[in-house]
Amino acid sequence: MKKRNVLKAAVVAVAALSSLGSIAQSNTFKIGLILPMTGQQASTGRQIEAAARLYMAQNGDTIAGKKVELILKDDTSVPDVTKRLAQELIVNDKVNVIAGFGITPSAFATAPLATQSKTPMVVMAAATSSITEASPYIVRTSFTLPQAAVALGDWTVKNGIKKVVTLVSDYGPGIDAEKYFRERLILNGGQVTEALRVPLRNPDFAPFLQKVRDLKPDALFVFVPSGAGAAVMKQFLERGMDKAGIKLIGTGDVTDDDQLNDMGDGALGVVTSHHYSAAHPSPVNKKFVEAFSKANKGMRPNFMAVGGYDGMRVIYEALKKTKGAGGGDALLAAMKGQIFESPRGPMYIDAQTRDVVQNIYLRKVERKDGELHNVEFDVIKDVKDPGKAK
Ligand code: PHB
Repeated sequence: MKKRNVLKAAVVAVAALSSLGSIAQSNTFKIGLILPMTGQQASTGRQIEAAARLYMAQNGDTIAGKKVELILKDDTSVPDVTKRLAQELIVNDKVNVIAGFGITPSAFATAPLATQSKTPMVVMAAATSSITEASPYIVRTSFTLPQAAVALGDWTVKNGIKKVVTLVSDYGPGIDAEKYFRERLILNGGQVTEALRVPLRNPDFAPFLQKVRDLKPDALFVFVPSGAGAAVMKQFLERGMDKAGIKLIGTGDVTDDDQLNDMGDGALGVVTSHHYSAAHPSPVNKKFVEAFSKANKGMRPNFMAVGGYDGMRVIYEALKKTKGAGGGDALLAAMKGQIFESPRGPMYIDAQTRDVVQNIYLRKVERKDGELHNVEFDVIKDVKDPGKAK
């Protein structure tokens, strides 16, 4: 071959390779899923990963001609790690969407990266009201603490509980829960006699519960993140606080379906407000719970699982609608306003706030078919995040 022809052949080969590369790239759709798979919040990671994989198994991994690839990363619920992993997923792996976010600080640490890179960020777990305001690229499929807490503030006083002590984890969602529950309680003529905050990391509930016992309120309102509820329940019962006439109430995080069945009869009668119960009596939920359990050695899905499952749905539907064209902005636009029936009940993604609008249920722990469940007994329909109006 003459020198010129060799050169020509080389140029053609390089061009062919790079177009192959871009075909390969454009034929995959990558979702970077960042979750706490180890450490204090590991149950959240386990539940969401299981739900995301179930969604893909049920709906296929080729959508609009693209192969959907899930890239799972363990952030150990350390926000700096979440941020570094998100950066690597965006820059090196060129993911189309980032998703997951087990706790509020992880979501806040990552939000600026979503904005800078115009990458949709689907928050499947974290639930502080203001998260969605941290980036216009955030869409949330979990819930907000004000959504859940307000409903309970109404129920409490109507049911003769007037004096309440609040006990919350000392960070975003706990402070939201404390504030919105309290406001609603006072509006209804109730009273918070003491507001206690426990550290998020390695909390020791004992001294706080002892204090509550001494204060003898009508009820103790609790918010702790998913995974910590069983420890609170155990110590509440060990101190005989239920026998002393103190009712335990809270957002549904405390009677987490991941742990509830192991809490024992002491949990019976505990009233909570939340957006999801594994006992939600709808055909869609029955199918979801059965399939989830079958795919995961009998595991019961909790509210984190449903946030992950619905988050995958929001991503899949956006991909179907855009056929992968138009990048992050088009995907984001296709996520806004989605409306569908979730295992939790009807829900939609408010196009203005990008936050979830959903029913909030009042539930009581009961024994059903030999197992402890959060049995829904009332519903407040289509609740928007009350935090957004302020
Ligand atoms: C949060 O960090 O936002 C969070 C975590 C677990 C929950 C609720 C909120 O159960």
